[in-house]
Amino acid sequence: MVDRRTMLAGGAGVAIGALGSSPAAAAAGGLHALAATRGLSFGTCLAAPRRDNGSLGNPRFAALVERDCGMAVPENAMKWQAIRPSADRYDFAAFDAIVDAAIRRGLRLRGHTLLWHYDRWFPRWLVDYDFGSQKRATAERLLQTHIRTVAARYGRRIGSYDVVNEAVDPADGSLRSTALSRAMGGAEPVLDLAFHAARAAAPHAELVYNDYMSWEDGNQKHRDGVLRLLEGFRTRGTPVHALGVQSHIGVFEPTDSIERLVVRLTPAWRGFLDQVTGMGYRLVVTEFDVRDRGLPADIARRDRDVAAFARGYLDVMLSYPQLRDVLAWGITDRFSWLRGFEPRPDGKITRGLPYDEEYAPKPLYGAIRDALAAATPRR
Ligand code: G3I
Repeated sequence: MVDRRTMLAGGAGVAIGALGSSPAAAAAGGLHALAATRGLSFGTCLAAPRRDNGSLGNPRFAALVERDCGMAVPENAMKWQAIRPSADRYDFAAFDAIVDAAIRRGLRLRGHTLLWHYDRWFPRWLVDYDFGSQKRATAERLLQTHIRTVAARYGRRIGSYDVVNEAVDPADGSLRSTALSRAMGGAEPVLDLAFHAARAAAPHAELVYNDYMSWEDGNQKHRDGVLRLLEGFRTRGTPVHALGVQSHIGVFEPTDSIERLVVRLTPAWRGFLDQVTGMGYRLVVTEFDVRDRGLPADIARRDRDVAAFARGYLDVMLSYPQLRDVLAWGITDRFSWLRGFEPRPDGKITRGLPYDEEYAPKPLYGAIRDALAAATPRR
């Protein structure tokens, strides 16, 4: 007889239990159930419900979420571009549908994002906005009203917010200039206001600064910029509880040993995380996936390397007791943002999520599971 986990594994007929070595993990019902035994949570981002996307409206996708996830976050539906079509109008339809479907399934919800501090991702109307003669007051009102309106609508249904996303320019670690920062005379007042407004509107919620400074080479300036920002928040008493570590990790160059690469990257990354946690911040893995464009086309080799790289990374992250929630940026390669945003030079489908495009689990699934199983239980 085929058990439920094997059946849900989909077309390739791979039993989840066959993918890793930990008996404790194999006995558990899925990634979140296992995570929960360690005081952790596992989750994914979601699209607005439709039958043919990465959402709870797609029965095959929903089956994976049901098995593996205890948390969810909207991939796009809570961004200004989605819910704020103009200064005086909101459109919550898509996000409402995600929230309702997620709550019905008992998922905890994160909100992403109250402010993506980057003109590139502002709605066009905001980039071009005429702030008038009282620029600062007008910008403050616009931002505050946005945060209050969203937070009031969802109340306690959202327990954690990426209040600010990607405010640091990775090129030099400075804060980005945006339409709002130009109107308010600098980025710091914008970011501080966002967090103060979020605390006032959602006093129950965890407030997160979310960014993609990562552990690979070339991220030093970005990491330093994030550390300066976090230090500034602390000095000014800005209410920020956690750093969201997006975790779009990747192997970008051919490498003969993933294990050696992990060993090489770990010390600087730990140094960064030590400083973040030393300032009193918690950690959230908010958008985990693995970019595989430096890895060979061969699927067996690529999957093994992706899994090894992920395992090395997650082991470091999970060694910090300040981390409790691990969310992946999708669950199957079929709907990964990487396919469109970062296609492989050889045109092969990227394989950075735990299930492949046919909804079959891959070695990455086993790596996540074993990393969760190996985590020290949180109190
Ligand atoms: O919904 C429209 C559709 O109507 C239209 O036909 C189509 C044509 O391009 O675009 C669709 O919107 C796209 C949307 O994704 C939904 O698929 C946007 O163009 C596209 O820009 C948008 O990309 C998202 C991106 O953020 C920008 O918002 C990705 O899906 C999403 O995965 C990505 O997520 C970000 C996080 O928010 C922050 N951290 C990095 C992460 C990855 O880039």
